[in-house]
Amino acid sequence: MKFATASAVLLAASAVSAAATQKPLRDLAKAKDIYIGVAIGNGNLGDAKYTEIMKREFNFITPENSMKWEAIEPKPAEFHFAQGDEIVAVAKAQKAEVRGHTLTWHSQLAPWVNSATWTKENLTAAIERHIRATVGYYSDDLTHWDVVNEVHEDDGTPRQSIFYKTFGNVADYVELSFREARKHTTKAKLYINDYNLEGQNVSKSDATYQLVKKLKNKGVPIHGVGLQAHLLVGQVPTNMQATIEKFASLGVDVALTELDIRMEQPFTAEKLAQQGNDYEAVFRACLAVKRCVGITLWGITDKYSWIPGVFPTEGSALVWDENYAAKPAYDGIVRALTTKATKPKSR
Ligand SMILES: *[C@@H]1O[C@H](CO)[C@@H](O)[C@H](O)[C@H]1NC(C)=O
Ligand SMILES: *[C@@H]1O[C@H](CO)[C@@H](O)[C@H](O)[C@H]1NC(C)=O
Repeated sequence: MKFATASAVLLAASAVSAAATQKPLRDLAKAKDIYIGVAIGNGNLGDAKYTEIMKREFNFITPENSMKWEAIEPKPAEFHFAQGDEIVAVAKAQKAEVRGHTLTWHSQLAPWVNSATWTKENLTAAIERHIRATVGYYSDDLTHWDVVNEVHEDDGTPRQSIFYKTFGNVADYVELSFREARKHTTKAKLYINDYNLEGQNVSKSDATYQLVKKLKNKGVPIHGVGLQAHLLVGQVPTNMQATIEKFASLGVDVALTELDIRMEQPFTAEKLAQQGNDYEAVFRACLAVKRCVGITLWGITDKYSWIPGVFPTEGSALVWDENYAAKPAYDGIVRALTTKATKPKSR
C-alpha cells in the first residue's frame, strides 16, 4: 500500500487499501481478455465487507460448495437447487458469469452414492440422472462446468473412486459424463479439473494430457482443462506457462480454477512479499497463453479460506487478509494485469 502524501485526509482515504485507489481487477482483467473469478460460499453472503469486494473486483463466480453432488442430490433423485440459485442471482446482479462446480467427483459426493452397490449399468443411470437434472436446470445460466474433477492420483494412476472401481477404467465414466452434460447445455464450456497439474507433477499432468487427447480424438465434447492451482509460496512451478501451452495445444481452453498460494504460519512480511511475486508470476503465465481464458481465486479473504482446516500449520493463502486489507498479492496481480505486453490475440 502506497501513501502518496502524509496529509491526514489522504491517509484516511488510502487506509481503505490500495484497492480503492485504482481500477478494480475485473476491469484490468477484461482489458487483458481474461476473466477474474472467485469462489463464493453461500454462508458468507451476509458479510458486507465480503460482498463489497466480491461485487467490486470479480466478473466470474464459482459456488464453493453449493453445486457439489452432496449439496444438489443428497438423496437419490431428490434435488436441491436453492443455494445454487442464490449464487446465480448474486452473479447476475453484478454481471458475472458462473462456473458450475462440480458433477462427477469422488469427494463431497452424496454418501448414498459411495455406500451403494453398483453395476456399470445402474451407476451410469445414476450419473446421467444427476447430470441431466443439474446441467439442465442451470442451462440458461452457466457458462462453464467442471464436469469431472480429480480423476487421477498424484502419481498419475487412476483415482480409486466408486466411479473407477465400478467402470474398471477412467475414460469410460469421464466420457459418459461429458456426453451427458453436452446434451443439456449448448452454452457451457465443459472442463476436466484437477490439482497439481501446473507443472510440479509431470506424471499427473501427463495422465490428464493423455486422457484429454484420447477423448478429443473420440469426439467427446470436452472444451477445457482446469488447473486448480492450489500452490505454495516460493514454489510456483517455473514450467507453468509451458504446461498451460501444452494443454492448449490439444485444442482446448485452459483456466486456472482455484488459485490460492499458502504459506507456513506465522506469516511474515517477507513471505507476503514473495506471495505477491508468486501471484504476479501465475497471472503472467496465463496472460502469455492465448487460450488461457481466466483465473479464479479460491476465496476472497484468509478469514474464510479452507487451507487451515486441511493444512493446519499453513494459511494466509488469499489476496485479502482476515481484516479485508489487500495484501501484496493484490499489487502483484495488478502488476501482471497492467504490464504493457498484451495477451496474444484470437482464440
Ligand atoms: C445395481 O444393480 C445391482 C444388480 O442388480 C443391484 O444389486 C444393486 O443394488 C443396484 N444398485 C442400486 C443403487 O440400485
Ligand atoms: C507428485 O507425485 C508424487 C507421487 O508420484 C507425490 O509423492 C508427490 O507428493 C507429488 N508432488 C506434488 C508437488 O504434489
